Amino acid sequence: MRLRARAAPGRHRLQQVHMVQKGLMALVSVETLGSRYDVRIEAGLIGSAGSLIRETLGDRRLFVIADETVWTHYESRLAEGLQGCDWVALPSPLDEPRKRMSTVERLCSDMHAAGADRGSAVVAVGGGVAGDVAGFVAASYMRGIDFVQVPTTLLAQVDASVGGKTGVNLSSGKNLVGAFHQPRLVLVDPDTLVSLPDREYLAGVQEVVKHGIIRSPELFAYMETRAAMVRARAGEAVEKMISESVRIKAAVVCADERESGLRRILNFGHTLGHALEAETGYSTLLHGEAVGFGMVAAARLSELRGRLGSRDRARIEAVVLSYGSFAGLESLDARNIAARTAGDKKAVGGRARFVLADSIGSVSEELDPPAEQVIAATEHALAACGAVESAAV
Ligand SMILES: NC(=O)c1ccc[n+]([C@@H]2O[C@H](COP(=O)([O-])OP(=O)(O)OC[C@H]3O[C@@H](n4cnc5c(N)ncnc54)[C@H](O)[C@@H]3O)[C@@H](O)[C@H]2O)c1
Ligand SMILES: [Zn+2]
Repeated sequence: MRLRARAAPGRHRLQQVHMVQKGLMALVSVETLGSRYDVRIEAGLIGSAGSLIRETLGDRRLFVIADETVWTHYESRLAEGLQGCDWVALPSPLDEPRKRMSTVERLCSDMHAAGADRGSAVVAVGGGVAGDVAGFVAASYMRGIDFVQVPTTLLAQVDASVGGKTGVNLSSGKNLVGAFHQPRLVLVDPDTLVSLPDREYLAGVQEVVKHGIIRSPELFAYMETRAAMVRARAGEAVEKMISESVRIKAAVVCADERESGLRRILNFGHTLGHALEAETGYSTLLHGEAVGFGMVAAARLSELRGRLGSRDRARIEAVVLSYGSFAGLESLDARNIAARTAGDKKAVGGRARFVLADSIGSVSEELDPPAEQVIAATEHALAACGAVESAAV
C-alpha cells in the first residue's frame, strides 16, 4: 500500500503548513481539522515565553510542569521569560519509569490544590517524557485544558512536541494509555540543547535522519555531508535539523492527525526498533538509538524485498551508523527480536506492519513480509551496529 496516495490534498482543504524563515528563526504553522498552532523555533526563545504565550492564549494562570533536571538548568531564564504572567511551577523527576498514571494523578492533584480551573493552561518543559505526561495531564484535567510545549531535548524538538500524541506507560507496555491533544503553541529554543548529554543529543539525531529518509533526500544529504557540524551542534546544523524535521512532521500530521494512513510513515525504523527495546527491557539503548538499529534493519529488509537499491541501502546504513552508539547488543538473538514484531502495538491481527524504503525520500508500507527475511535483516543490523561498538572500543 502506498501511504503517500492517502494524503490527497483535496481531502484536507482546511489543513496547511507554512514555513517562514527569518535569519535564526523559523515558524511552522500546523493546522489540523480541529486546531491550529504555531511551532516557533528561535535561539533564546524561553526568555520571552510569557509574552508569546499571552499573545496566543491571553492572560491565563499557567501551571509549568517541568522535568526537574531541566528546571535546575533553566529555572531562572524561564522565570525571567514568564515575568508578568501568573504562574505556578511544578518541577518533578519525570523519567521513563515515572511516565505513569500515578504521576498524572499526582500532578492533577497538585494543580487542583493550587487552584487550577478550566481557564488555566499547562506549560510542559522538558523532553518527550515531560511533554507526554504534561500533555496527558492537560488532556484530562477537568476534561481538557490548553497546553503549551517547551521541548528541551533534540528528540522532543524534532518529533515528540508536534502532533498531539500524549500519554503514559502501563507496566505491560509503553504509551498504552493516552489521548490526542494538540498543544496551542510550541516554543523550541535550540539554546536549551547546550546542556543535553551527548548520547541524548545523538539519539535525537537519528529521528532527524529518519525524517530525511521518509520525506527529504535533501535533509538526508545534509546529514550525510555535514556530520562534523551536526556532531558539534553548530547553530546552522541544529537550526536546519529542527526546522526541517518540524516541517516534515507537521506536514504528515496535518494530512493524517490520527494515524489512519500517512502518519504511519513516521514509524520507519520503529517496528524493529520497538522490538529491540522490548527485547532488552527498555534499559540498554535509548529510543533514538533503537530507531537507528531499526532503520539499518528496515533498509536491509527493503533491499531484500527488492524495493531499495544496494547503494541507497548502504548510504542509509552509513549515515545511521555514523551517529550511532549501540552498546549491549552482543548476546541478542535476531529470531527473538523479529518474533516480537507481531506483538507490536501497530501490528494488525498479529501481522507485523513495516514501513520500507523505496528510495531515499520515499517509503511505503508492507504487511507481514516473509519471516526469514525479517530475521535476516535483523541479523544484518545486529552485526552492523555491533561492529560500530567494537570499533569504538
Ligand atoms: N508524543 C510523541 O509523539 C512522541 C514521539 C516520540 C517520543 N515520545 C516519547 O518521548 C520520550 C522520550 O523523550 P526524550 O528522548 O526527550 O527523553 P526524556 O524526556 O526522558 O529526556 C532525556 C533525558 O534528558 C534530560 N534532559 C532533557 N532536556 C535536557 C536539557 N535541555 N539539558 C539537560 N538534560 C536534559 C532529561 O532529564 C532526561 O534525563 C519517550 O517516552 C517516548 O515515548 C513521544
Ligand atoms: Zn521515535
